Amino acid sequence: MIPQSTIMSILDTVRIEEVVSDFVSLKKRGANLIGVCPFHKEKTPSFIVSPAKGIFKCFGCGKAGDSVRFIMEHEHYSYPEALRFLAHKYGIIIEEKEQTPEELMAQNEREKMFNINTFAQQYFSETMKNSEEGLSIGMSYFKERGFRDAIINKFQLGYCLNQRDAFIQHALKNGYSKDLLLKIGLASGNEERMYDKYQGRVIFPIHNLTGKVIGFGARILSSDKTKAKYLNSPESEIYNKSQTLYGIYFAKNEISRLDNCILVEGYADVLSMHQAGIENTVASSGTSLTSEQIRLIRRYTKNITILYDGDSAGIHAALRGTDMILEEGMNVRIVVLPPDEDPDSFVQHNPIEVVRAYIDDNAKDFISFKTQLLLKDTANNPIKKAEVVKDIVNTISLIPDAIFRATYIKECSRLMEMPEQSLMNELNKLLRAKINKNNKGEQYQQVEITEEFKSGPQQITTDTLPPGFYQERELVKLMLMYGDREIDVEGLDENNNPIVYKISVASLIVDDLKSDDISFKDETHRIIFDIYDKALDGETLPKEQFFTSHENADIAELAANLLTTPYKLDNWDNNNRVNIRVKTEEDVLTAVVSTSILRYKDLIIDERRNEIMKELMSTQDIDNQMILLAKKKRLDDLRIKINKKLEIVVAK
Ligand code: CTP
Ligand code: MN
Repeated sequence: MIPQSTIMSILDTVRIEEVVSDFVSLKKRGANLIGVCPFHKEKTPSFIVSPAKGIFKCFGCGKAGDSVRFIMEHEHYSYPEALRFLAHKYGIIIEEKEQTPEELMAQNEREKMFNINTFAQQYFSETMKNSEEGLSIGMSYFKERGFRDAIINKFQLGYCLNQRDAFIQHALKNGYSKDLLLKIGLASGNEERMYDKYQGRVIFPIHNLTGKVIGFGARILSSDKTKAKYLNSPESEIYNKSQTLYGIYFAKNEISRLDNCILVEGYADVLSMHQAGIENTVASSGTSLTSEQIRLIRRYTKNITILYDGDSAGIHAALRGTDMILEEGMNVRIVVLPPDEDPDSFVQHNPIEVVRAYIDDNAKDFISFKTQLLLKDTANNPIKKAEVVKDIVNTISLIPDAIFRATYIKECSRLMEMPEQSLMNELNKLLRAKINKNNKGEQYQQVEITEEFKSGPQQITTDTLPPGFYQERELVKLMLMYGDREIDVEGLDENNNPIVYKISVASLIVDDLKSDDISFKDETHRIIFDIYDKALDGETLPKEQFFTSHENADIAELAANLLTTPYKLDNWDNNNRVNIRVKTEEDVLTAVVSTSILRYKDLIIDERRNEIMKELMSTQDIDNQMILLAKKKRLDDLRIKINKKLEIVVAK
């Protein structure tokens, strides 16, 4: 745990231009520095560093943030890892915070778990290399499967003697507790009757990102179908299956370097691929692929190549994986292996050049993959063909980025010989349904739709975002930029006499919306709103840096983005109905804030009014109708008031 005070002193000390220039060569441009973005391929520099604001922003790929964020992105570090990196660079000593007894207990528990796993791993490896049984059974099994010493050592493979409790006895003698042995899954049974869980099996240690052993997979050597082929560690404080990828520790650098990750299914597949020199390979072993695993890969690359067996289970898994990867906004290609081969056997049976060539030649994007797969047995059946098209368009609808969606629609139209227009219509139908369902439209990024992508009356435009999204964003931006600025607002005192009082921009926005029970729909906006809400109870408001350095990446990025797009207060009147004659910037600010609030409210009220109207149409109950009508009247009145106010503000 890094104490908050140390975090603050790190953030205060770091100079964004110094941090970035360790990795990117920067040139001065005005108050800022400019360079070639390290996060995407570009020839002309669009990567800006602002020493004054302490942030970077790429106008090409949109990445933005402070020094910590830069190091996290560039070095694939977690938040604390990035802080430690920066502390080291600036010679700041991190004094770890004193932990509470509970924290200490939890910490010790995790520590103990890592320790016993390392202890067990070493024991299993030793046993395989130095005992007679280990050599003749465990080691010879791996050798028969074509695994050489280098890969056996690197992945720390091992063997568990086929005895009742040889390992347990060894562990107890070395001071490990029965309780821990059971909890971490190295022993089965109970404290009275314990036995080695992995008896007579070969051992595959599972490592986390930093190379620590967090669990084991243990393969049976007989072909006894009544027993599980693999026994795996149970989940624990240090082992979360859905967040783990087998091989990630050994693969991460290569994944990053090649900007591609090959995904296979099993332990043996990973070993064979790495042994053959294809080291950007990991496996989702034991679980079907999860979105957490995909996001783990995304730390290193946006490109995944799925390499699964050519049997129907493998293809099914590949289809499922494809949808999930696309949903995370990543790119996926699929390689289907020849019948009866899995990556392990394929690599063991063929020279490496053949394997590489096969992967290169057979990697298909998901549309070609699905088209070929699904069209295979539909021949000229138009109904079947329609189903296939729907299936593919459904997958396309999962992609968060509208430009990519449009590109894939084009590709699908070409391959399926279907008019683009009708595919687009189908896509829009699906998107609409989805947005209505969960109202989480913000993930469907809005883009300018060029003529060729337009599909008549239905098109992806702003209506794919939740209503009021831009109005919300506007208010967030005002809070971030001018939150603590005091402005004059007209109001009434206790005796209903008009007065002018001073209030901060943040307070005006938060209090006004809260008094009408309105909160933002977009989650990131809402979190920022809540932060201000809480801070307003105290003395000081959070500074820009609080947001640009926020641990929540969405907040940090949004803040950096909003803060680097200047708000042109002086141009503001040009966009408005009535030309305002303003004297000071503060006048404009007051007007901007007030109108932004009013416009947002107007929109929310309109929405609520529509809901009431819908309800009115669907109810037969007279009492209910009366209540709804009353509600509607209240909203109508409110709207009139708001519009009056809007006119006054704007006319001022
Ligand atoms: N698996 C598991 N438990 C099982 C079967 C499989 O946890 N009873 C997991 C293992 O991680 C395994 C992966 O699923 O590596 C893929 O299964 P499979 O293809 O059957 O195993 P392989 O790794 O190919 O094993 P081998 O080649 O040794 O048969
Ligand atoms: Mn296999």
